[in-house]
Amino acid sequence: MTRPDPLAPRASLLERAAEIYDFQAALGQRNALADGSAAGPEVAPPYGGRHGAVDRIALAEAGFILPDAPTGVLPEEFRIIKRQLLLAAFGGNTAPAVERGRIILVASAQPDEGKTFCAVNLALSIAAEKDVEVLLIDADFAKPEILSILGLEGGPGLVDALEDSIVDVESCIIRTDIPNLLVLPAGRQTNQANELIASDRTRDLLDQLVRRHPQRVLIFDSAPVLAASPASVLALHAGQVLMVVRADRTGEAELREALAMLSGCGSIQLLLNSVSFAPSARRFGDYYGTGE
Ligand SMILES: Nc1ncnc2c1ncn2[C@@H]1O[C@H](COP(=O)(O)OP(=O)(O)O)[C@@H](O)[C@H]1O
Ligand SMILES: [Mg+2]
Repeated sequence: MTRPDPLAPRASLLERAAEIYDFQAALGQRNALADGSAAGPEVAPPYGGRHGAVDRIALAEAGFILPDAPTGVLPEEFRIIKRQLLLAAFGGNTAPAVERGRIILVASAQPDEGKTFCAVNLALSIAAEKDVEVLLIDADFAKPEILSILGLEGGPGLVDALEDSIVDVESCIIRTDIPNLLVLPAGRQTNQANELIASDRTRDLLDQLVRRHPQRVLIFDSAPVLAASPASVLALHAGQVLMVVRADRTGEAELREALAMLSGCGSIQLLLNSVSFAPSARRFGDYYGTGE
């Protein structure tokens, strides 16, 4: 059987690249959350966080899929993508480690490649599952967009829970009116976010988010790998990385460089976002605030 070249261009709008990158052999798998996973799930306390209503009309107008949307190309493609991710998260002997596999990072080399678009669509698609709860986490601290896309109000989030151990991360979660869809905002704007996500507390916090919620999948939206450090830090904790690639824009060299920076995760899949949408006018320099 010939191995498909994961960097070869593909034809459809969104296409899961068939190949799974396996860095395990070369790098050894750093299983940040494996410790204690044999102890079994603890019982989750009653929910004490916020509730919010998703702006479904704005979502649909912006081209996102809704859980009750009729079938179409985009929902079908996300069904295929989610099925494979859920299989690795919950099923079979191939799961990297049960709890870590439920932590999924959506990344890309550069801005505007479709990370947020794919993270939100993937979360909406997973939310339609019967027995799975999806927690969509905004970890693009420089450009948090998930709340505005979903029409949810701002409030404390990941940064706040990382900064202050008194803050219960579960209380920062917004439970939406889409069944099974939870959102953890990025939280307070701070220029310490990169250091906070790199701190030891991130591991404890992720552990807390998954261990007591055995049906929960975490989807991280993140900053571009080549523009900021949080994605490569999160890759150390994630069991699966979905690497969004824009066929018309991402160069092979930068893709390879970005993949190397995510090598803390043993399972990286490419998702080709091959594109017939109008690119926004944002520039790379925006992420640094350098005005380039
Ligand atoms: N497959 C797609 N179809 C339609 N619009 C898309 C698609 N992928 C991305 N977009 C749009 O392109 C813009 C940039 O995508 P976004 O997800 O914000 O990129 P990133 O999060 O990587 O910076 C957004 O307006 C988004 O809605
Ligand atoms: Mg984004």
